[in-house]
Amino acid sequence: MAPIRFIPLFSVLAVSACVFAQVGEKLPSGAEDFADYCSACHGEGGKGDGEMASTLAKKPADLTGLSDRNKGTFPTTQVMAKIWGYTGGKNGDAVMPNFGPLLESDLVPYDGGDGIMTPTPLRLVQIAEHLKTLQAK
Ligand code: HEC
Repeated sequence: MAPIRFIPLFSVLAVSACVFAQVGEKLPSGAEDFADYCSACHGEGGKGDGEMASTLAKKPADLTGLSDRNKGTFPTTQVMAKIWGYTGGKNGDAVMPNFGPLLESDLVPYDGGDGIMTPTPLRLVQIAEHLKTLQAK
């Protein structure tokens, strides 16, 4: 009989180990998320030269020129919208995928540049802040 009792005990331990692992997990930084979710297309430095770039129907944007192309101001709201996905796909040619895990992180108040604090997923904020650091000008 003893071996049969072992099995449920073992699975309880395994499950609690998973829960602990999740609690102790550190949130990835903006740079880490960029490397994981964006650099394949946009390139490590955001210049649009990722390894997948040549396989795409549309060339990935050079993300180091976002501020420059927006008269010197980082277009935070447009960047957020692009990642969030609600501006993409309207005409059916969206190349960028859906970034679910980034959008499921905790909400933090964030001012996208219009002076209004909007609850925004933390990892989205971190990616936008990381992109700001990549701006050529
Ligand atoms: C599958 C390839 C792919 C991935 C992955 C990808 N992008 Fe893109 N991205 C593109 C392409 C292609 C464009 C240009 C066409 C378009 O606007 O849809 C683009 C455009 C953009 C733009 C608009 C730039 C502009 O000048 O308007 C932003 C901002 C952007 N990407 C940010 C990101 C971020 C941040 C990530 C990671 C969370 C990411 N992208 C992941 C392919 C990708």
